[in-house]
Amino acid sequence: MDYILAPSILSADFKELGKEMKKTEEGGAKYLHFDVMDGMFVPNISFGIPVLASIRGATEQVMDVHLMIREPIRYVEDFKKAGADIITVHLEACEDVHATLGKIRDAGLRCGLSICPETDVEELAPYLEEIDMALIMSVHPGFGGQSFIPESLEKIRKTRKMAEERGLDLDIQVDGGIGMSNIREVLDAGANVIVIGSGVFKGDAGENTRGYMEIMKSY
Ligand code: DX5
Ligand code: ZN
Repeated sequence: MDYILAPSILSADFKELGKEMKKTEEGGAKYLHFDVMDGMFVPNISFGIPVLASIRGATEQVMDVHLMIREPIRYVEDFKKAGADIITVHLEACEDVHATLGKIRDAGLRCGLSICPETDVEELAPYLEEIDMALIMSVHPGFGGQSFIPESLEKIRKTRKMAEERGLDLDIQVDGGIGMSNIREVLDAGANVIVIGSGVFKGDAGENTRGYMEIMKSY
């Protein structure tokens, strides 16, 4: 299983976005986490298709697109065209989860399914065989810089156990409130794809990235 750092650009300095991204790439982060918010599914609006299209050519990193939008099935093709490599949707935001995941796979992309803190891990069970990655939100989606919800650790353990019982090589991504003080317990709980926003982009993004990579290398 690969251990992957996915810096979330939501917390980046957008007037220096290209430079900030480069620092994380040079620091060894294989993914770039791209948080799309519609102001409906979450109480915030971030960025979308034109921004993804404009940064796609500036990096080799995997574009890990996190859609915090209602009915994401409507935009799978557009995000694919703009350069998404992975599209993760929220179970709570889809009319038809199977159809949405199928649309992402039919587009030739890797697919992720995310649950909010208030959603039980068991709700992922019917979809585990259809996804490449499960995203356990460790904050209420919508904003960077929030505190990690400790109950998330048990959800990560349960998800890893479910995947192992089914012999699935499932990536488990965790997103929200992760930093130097708690990244080890998140990894120990069974996560292998770690999203970090403010913990990377507040301060020197290159130095912060290298610091997290050091820890993840030991897993
Ligand atoms: C929140 C986003 C997260 C957020 C992480 O809705 O999905 O990716 O940007 O930022 P931090 O690491 O600062 O909690
Ligand atoms: Zn995210």
